[in-house]
Amino acid sequence: MSDRWYKKAVVYCLDIDTFADSNGDGIGDIRGLIGRLDYLARLGVTCLWLNPIHPSPDRDDGYDVADFYNVDPRFGTLGDFAELLHQAANLGIKVIIDLVVNHTSDQHPWFQSARSDPDSPFRDWYVWSEEAPPDRHQGMVFPGEQGETWSFDRTAKLWYYHRFYKFQPDLNIKTEAVREEIKKICAFWLQLGVAGFRMDAVPFIIEETQPGNPNPAKNMDYLTELREFVQWRKGDGVLLAEANVEPDQLVGFFGDGGGSSNRIHMLFDFMLNARMVLALARENPEPIIEALRETPKLPKGGQWATFLRNHDEIDLSRLTAEQRADVFAKFGPDPDMQLYGRGIRRRLAPMLGNDRRRLELAYALQFSLRGTPVLRYGEEIGMGDDLALEGRDSIRTPMQWSILPNAGFSTAPKAELVRPVVDHGDFAYEKVNVTQQRLDRKSLLSWFERMIRTLREAPEVGAGSCTHVDLPAPPGVLVHRADDVTGTMLFVHNLGPEAGSVDLSSLYPEAEAPNDVLADREYPDLGKFREIDVAGYGYRWIRLRRYS
Ligand code: NOJ
Ligand code: CA
Repeated sequence: MSDRWYKKAVVYCLDIDTFADSNGDGIGDIRGLIGRLDYLARLGVTCLWLNPIHPSPDRDDGYDVADFYNVDPRFGTLGDFAELLHQAANLGIKVIIDLVVNHTSDQHPWFQSARSDPDSPFRDWYVWSEEAPPDRHQGMVFPGEQGETWSFDRTAKLWYYHRFYKFQPDLNIKTEAVREEIKKICAFWLQLGVAGFRMDAVPFIIEETQPGNPNPAKNMDYLTELREFVQWRKGDGVLLAEANVEPDQLVGFFGDGGGSSNRIHMLFDFMLNARMVLALARENPEPIIEALRETPKLPKGGQWATFLRNHDEIDLSRLTAEQRADVFAKFGPDPDMQLYGRGIRRRLAPMLGNDRRRLELAYALQFSLRGTPVLRYGEEIGMGDDLALEGRDSIRTPMQWSILPNAGFSTAPKAELVRPVVDHGDFAYEKVNVTQQRLDRKSLLSWFERMIRTLREAPEVGAGSCTHVDLPAPPGVLVHRADDVTGTMLFVHNLGPEAGSVDLSSLYPEAEAPNDVLADREYPDLGKFREIDVAGYGYRWIRLRRYS
């Protein structure tokens, strides 16, 4: 069990077009990424998650795919991609790619054929309605940017369904050929050497949409079938799904065949994400404690993927209105920082006032909580955002490599960059960049390297159980532990600004030569665990015992 690679992985998410441009056309590309793999290896990344790499009109940052069997020519060729897989493997880095099969681009040849010919073999690959569906103004994922979920297609003279933007018609999972095609897409990329897929919008993929029915059936069995298929093609191939659903539905996505997960291996922990952000905003760990208590037990092999920032807005929709208001007040008070009435379109460093103590605390917390940590590019150097850009593009600016023009991202003229580089204010690339931080042992980047290296010594975090240690503690302090066959790690995090101490002496009998393996500063010896000090916004990772 414990050798399942995804349980010990450190996942790094990036978009090729904003990472590194090798040919000076202003757009990041695969060769550019290959040139930066050593940077990722040094950071301690073991798995890359690439945002969509396929040819695309790029109206939703690549989540509108026009050809599932190729890479976007702006990024390079399939040959370059195979080279990337080879070079990454040489450095011990696996690569997973986004699998976006809830919908295609409306420019995809399948949709073009489906809309223009009633006899097209692709007609029933999409979801149509002859009448205007009465519920067409419901279920929008991007309120404000999207007015409806059914649009009239003048060529087909029919309404088509699109859970997301109008230019992203949904594929029809009821059609067997679609179900088979999705497998074929997986098979193609597995054959090329990817380690698995980040599956986009899973609850919507399996939805058997019917006009006028707000609660259509979901084909959960297809997830079992797909998992079985993937596993036959690549024994350790992994599915990591985006399924932002109510807690009582989560376990169904993991599947349970005789106690073992037989559907999705890993789910993003959206619930913990929102609770962590709430806890940071309130400087009180209670929401995290609640999340740890309420989370369903996972079937064997099931795993959470934890994150603080991803490429989208921070989704606060599952918090209560009062909780959401607290987070907005602290982290996104200006309406321009908010999105879709439910989220925040900022990076973490600006949200935390660029306060180094709070940044370390937040990431120490994320990486020590259960599951596999996922880190978004640029967070490791504390990059900022650009609220002048539309919607979610604010957090999708180019990686800041150095003080060279365009942050060393590209040699193209500034006006030709895929997106502007952040070049003013506290987060300008002259102040926040990899090269400077690499040289500075006290930098955030150096801290991330150290923290991730420490995590390597603490396999209990990814593979073991994570529980709140319920002891009297000052209001800002969270004590939790990770246990597995390898031993026990104990964690003390102080979300508040005041220094405090906790009495952990009841745990002392379990301790075997305990020591701090990571902390915000040097603390006095742990003694018999009586008064464990922790600074305001401080943290201590303590190795309690080791079995092997
Ligand atoms: C979820 C992705 O994370 C988001 O970026 C995208 O816009 C939608 N799915 C549609 O594919
Ligand atoms: Ca390029």
